[in-house]
Amino acid sequence: MSIKDAKIIKEIEEQRPKTPAGLLSKQEKDRIIERGFVGLYRWYVSRSQKTRNWNPNTDFKWREFRTDHSEKLNYIIEGYFAIEQYVPDFVLQLLKVIRRSYGQSHFHIRWGSEEEKHSDLWENTMLFSHYRTPKWIEDYKHTLREHQWELPWDNPMHMIFYKVIQERATQVNYLNTALIVGGKGNDVDFINDTDLVLKRVAQVIAIDEAAHYNFFLEGTRLYLYYYPAQALEALYDVIKFFTIPAGNIIPGYDRFAEIVAKSGIYGPREHLRDIVDVAIKSLGVKGKNLLYKGIKRIRSVPNMDGTMRDTSTFDMVDYENVTSKVKRLFGHIGDYEKDIGLDDVYPTQFVPSGLSG
Ligand SMILES: [Fe+2]
Ligand SMILES: [Fe+2]
Repeated sequence: MSIKDAKIIKEIEEQRPKTPAGLLSKQEKDRIIERGFVGLYRWYVSRSQKTRNWNPNTDFKWREFRTDHSEKLNYIIEGYFAIEQYVPDFVLQLLKVIRRSYGQSHFHIRWGSEEEKHSDLWENTMLFSHYRTPKWIEDYKHTLREHQWELPWDNPMHMIFYKVIQERATQVNYLNTALIVGGKGNDVDFINDTDLVLKRVAQVIAIDEAAHYNFFLEGTRLYLYYYPAQALEALYDVIKFFTIPAGNIIPGYDRFAEIVAKSGIYGPREHLRDIVDVAIKSLGVKGKNLLYKGIKRIRSVPNMDGTMRDTSTFDMVDYENVTSKVKRLFGHIGDYEKDIGLDDVYPTQFVPSGLSG
């Protein structure tokens, strides 16, 4: 053994978590994660039905929608319409990857039904704005669907981190759009674009996106808690290579991206500050820089067995914070199950990972 190797091993030993890792088998961890997803899904659906059961046609005053918006605002609407047109692909492609998980796949179908309403809503804004003819909109739909959206990653762990960033990004887009059409934007190009119907459209969708973001956030915490090293690697990859879904297949997407960036709705600055940094903080990750450095160390450690991969994990994440959030989630699920009597039949219970930061 060279002096360098001995030094590396000594360093690894020093950083080894005090509680021995891997007290739970992979099978056991996967079982608990699945129970968590099922409980979260049940709880989520109840909340969704109670608080966000809106209809894209009957719950908006479409006759009051303005027909004289600026060209730029119409282009933004068209961009949102285009992105949300790929719901069938978003559902289909990911469903193939997560179909073995009841909790994740059933949630995904529910999620699809909520995203489908976003599509309908944007189609209505297109129709009622009169900026394009109905025929043009039909043709555009066909053009958009000539291409199929493909998954950026083909495994559930990367995809759930992708969803965290993507849902937060859509939420920020719609919230900032609501500000502009509510007359609170700073960009003079939109000075005459105030529209209270459109403001409500953007706000209602933003509330859905926030709920989606929160579901995925809870889901990623389960992975972070039971598989911290792998989860941090997935988060790192997603942050590094993230792009808006379908941006590469939508005709004219670059112009849309330029307009939303220039108007302060969503550009590289907003992406880092309002999306990545916010998501990282909510996950208990100690910042982008530590994550970048830590991942390099994880990847450079020889003999990538589970224990060694965990050696520098706890430098990157506040594991206590993750633990308390996961416990809180199981607490919510437990309360929900008590409400319906499920606690007497098949209670979902928190199981410690055995890992320690
Ligand atoms: Fe959406
Ligand atoms: Fe969403």
